[in-house]
Amino acid sequence: MPQDMHCIIGAAGQLGTELAVALHHAGERVLLLDIQAPTYPALLELPFETVDVRDQAALSAVFGAYNVTHVYHLAAALSARGEQDPQWAWDLNMKGLLHVLDLAAGMDGIAQVFWPSSIAVFGPGSGVVAAQSAYRLPSTVYGISKNVGEQWCSWYHQHRGVDVRSVRYPGLIGTLAPPGGGTTDYAVEVFDHLHGPDPYTCFLKAEERLPMMHMDDAVGAALQILSAPRASLRCTEAYNINAMSFNPQELFAEIRRHVPGFKVEYAPDFRQNIASSWPDALHDDMAREDWGWAPKIGLPALVSSMMEARKVQTPSSPH
Ligand code: SER
Repeated sequence: MPQDMHCIIGAAGQLGTELAVALHHAGERVLLLDIQAPTYPALLELPFETVDVRDQAALSAVFGAYNVTHVYHLAAALSARGEQDPQWAWDLNMKGLLHVLDLAAGMDGIAQVFWPSSIAVFGPGSGVVAAQSAYRLPSTVYGISKNVGEQWCSWYHQHRGVDVRSVRYPGLIGTLAPPGGGTTDYAVEVFDHLHGPDPYTCFLKAEERLPMMHMDDAVGAALQILSAPRASLRCTEAYNINAMSFNPQELFAEIRRHVPGFKVEYAPDFRQNIASSWPDALHDDMAREDWGWAPKIGLPALVSSMMEARKVQTPSSPH
């Protein structure tokens, strides 16, 4: 039986890097696709192809040449970056997804597709804690593309038999690669500003509570939903998944347990409006029931792991 070949589109990105490392460490064959080569050292030995997801012929050629069986389509313009260039973001996000779904429908070898949706599908009226089937009026181009993308996934599953699976990720926090242009990015970039002479300038309000997740749980969710029996998945759009919720001042208080002198100032910008349109948390009962979703990492463990990974030295206590 031919071995599986896992193709990660957006392999140089924040989630792509972590998923590629996890699959590689699990002994799987992994193919990396992106418009720029990944730089994380453990990925340098893996096959890499430069492909823009807007070029369907190039995607098709690579899927065929490597006998790809599983596609993780992660390339997208995120919420904040997308608002700067809406037409570009829409083109990239929608074309990429439709190309992948279309190829998965037409190529027998492609068994499964994973495509991430987001809390950005929610907007005003979705509720403070958004239900799986909450009203959705997204406030960003990114959110609109994820919302419509979910419906395309459902359509390709029902009418073309594509086994595409999806979850609504919150802000993702990890260390291997930086995030690119999201509203939740402050919770990653702050870890690069713990010891500087100047305070860290946070672009959200101190009280802006958002759903967040450690990268280990995010990778676990993707692998777990892909290994679930298809018949157990009642949702053909994207599953709500929830791990923790915090606001900037709560994150910074936890950081101060490790770095007592850490200083911050607040200068909310356009990203504050995006953040305030999103829920504080998600109800994820359906994911728990259908495929056993159960996050492992809360705020104290998240901060400890970020400090550990970045080898940030705790100032020594006075003698
Ligand atoms: N982290 C994403 C963003 O901020 C949300 O899915 O855009």
